[in-house]
Amino acid sequence: MVAVVATYAPHNPEQVKRVGAAIELIHLASLVHDDLLDGASTRRSRPALYRVCGSTPAVLAGDYLFASAFDLLSNAPQDILKKVTRAIRAMCEGEIAELLQSDCSEAGYYRRVEKKTAVLMAAACASGAILAGMDQPRIAILETLGHHMGIAFQIADDLLDLEADPAITGKDAWQDIRRGVVTLPLIHFLSTAPPGPPWLEKLAAGTISHEEAGVLLASLREAGSLEYARQQAARHVSLALQALEQLPPSRARDTLARMAADIATPA
Ligand code: FPP
Ligand code: MG
Repeated sequence: MVAVVATYAPHNPEQVKRVGAAIELIHLASLVHDDLLDGASTRRSRPALYRVCGSTPAVLAGDYLFASAFDLLSNAPQDILKKVTRAIRAMCEGEIAELLQSDCSEAGYYRRVEKKTAVLMAAACASGAILAGMDQPRIAILETLGHHMGIAFQIADDLLDLEADPAITGKDAWQDIRRGVVTLPLIHFLSTAPPGPPWLEKLAAGTISHEEAGVLLASLREAGSLEYARQQAARHVSLALQALEQLPPSRARDTLARMAADIATPA
């Protein structure tokens, strides 16, 4: 995203590579730590790093990637440093909110995913815009684009957790149900469901068996909760595309529009 946005205007390609690589390393470090926090077994079709080398080395490996990112950012403009460090702080807040699960409302879900996922995409787009020398209103437009792409991506990722084949996603299925993470389809279901099993209590207790998870998934489908989440992801894709329309037509805009359109429909 940094690289595509930067092509809007003349830029220093070396600087763009360094900032893009730094943001990718931060993303990678966050996944190394996330898998440990989530107790995940698989990432990108391979064992999660902490499963291979143990928890302490994996924490240090994540820290190492994180430090390497800041090495790459050491000569970046101050505005980029500010946005990226604030994004990391927000990511930690988002992960803590997810661990606490204290707010199971739809607004609480959006606050969480904004922090854990969307802020880094927004920072990536804003960084590309800064490197292309854009003015403040255009930087803000690109930040909005990254924000909506991030929300759409996380809703799609949460749907994949429920529906997708682990052989395709390369990670465990039903991680959220197992860990009691209440994502958008579950929030919709819990607010509309007819009387039935006390799902929220079961989720909170982390006591849902494999069979019960199957029943819950069928109920989500029947209640239209999966479809509702898909519509919300599509709404954020539309908002991302609306933001893009405020920019003049260009190849970069076409590429970003394709990326936004694809983000909620992973292959
Ligand atoms: C994946 O979510 C995780 C994130 C989007 C953010 C993780 C952030 C941290 C661990 C804090 C920041 C840490 C550093 C080092 C920058 P998910 O569990 O919903 O997705 P998944 O299904 O791919 O695991
Ligand atoms: Mg995870």
